[in-house]
Amino acid sequence: MNRVLKHTGAKYPIIQAPMGWIARSQLASAVSNAGAMGIIETSSGETEACIKEIKKMAELTDNPFGINLPLLFLRDEAMVDFVANCGVKFVTTSAGSPSKLLDRLKSKDIIVYHAVPTVKAALKAAEAGVDGLVVEGAEGGGFKNPEEVSTLVLLQAIRERTDVPMIAAGGICDGRGMAAAFALGAEGIQMGTRFVSSQESPVHGNFKDAILGADEAGTWVLNKKSTPCIRALKSERTKEIHEAGLMPPDTFGNIKDLYFGGDMEASVALAGQSAGLIDAVKPVAQIVEETIAGFHEIAGRMGGLASARGF
Ligand SMILES: Cc1cc2nc3c(=O)[nH]c(=O)nc-3n(C[C@H](O)[C@H](O)[C@H](O)COP(=O)(O)O)c2cc1C
Repeated sequence: MNRVLKHTGAKYPIIQAPMGWIARSQLASAVSNAGAMGIIETSSGETEACIKEIKKMAELTDNPFGINLPLLFLRDEAMVDFVANCGVKFVTTSAGSPSKLLDRLKSKDIIVYHAVPTVKAALKAAEAGVDGLVVEGAEGGGFKNPEEVSTLVLLQAIRERTDVPMIAAGGICDGRGMAAAFALGAEGIQMGTRFVSSQESPVHGNFKDAILGADEAGTWVLNKKSTPCIRALKSERTKEIHEAGLMPPDTFGNIKDLYFGGDMEASVALAGQSAGLIDAVKPVAQIVEETIAGFHEIAGRMGGLASARGF
């Protein structure tokens, strides 16, 4: 059993990405029930709603799940207190330095993985004492580091410098991506774009259709000179931001109209380059089973090559 499986307690080393408003009990429980690791978001900043969603998980699944704490957006101490004391054993932190929260979480025996976009951030987090890293390459959807280091390079560069367990994120949506990530040293994968376009995802069909319709060049990295830098689907709205080079501060104001109302021009549709590899809305359990089967098929082929000393 690898370290990510030991740390999560899940059957499979597949983690569903935290996604503001989207990564709630409907999606996360489907992922946990499929043997992977559901994660509840708190980046929406809606403390009461997130606490309710975390409590709901106990009704919807007997399997383990985790919670994400995005340091930059955490305005409410009550959120951290609840997470530290609710009995959850796996937390990912992101967007900031994990050292602020580590002592509090570790004192409750919680496993903490920190999301990093560079080697420097990875080494800092490892030094601070995190149990593992979510290594987030530039291919992925959502908040991004403007340096844009690919998952392919980042995993290798971090593995070269530290033995901390790695969950690979960014550009992975099936067994091929999972096998590639494991070949580079990862012991788990995290998927956002694949799960947001799953059957159990709560987002509007227009958002899922836009992911299905996008090709591998169907996203833009936006707002590189300001913060947050993001990767989102191409649209009229994101074309304007792309051309202006800056994102208006109220861009996320109407995000729920896009996510749940289906108005694709109301805000920006966060998604990664793997949108170009996704061509069907599938149930979460099917996504997980196909990913594991694809991974083992490729691992078997690679094992055969190694035995035969072939290529
Ligand atoms: C729709 C969407 C919303 C996201 N929202 C968040 C968020 O609120 N907080 C966060 O840490 N990451 C967020 N992300 C990034 C994911 O956590 C994850 O790192 C990324 O999706 C992985 O790459 P992939 O999309 O290629 O699977 C979001 C991603 C997507 C697709």
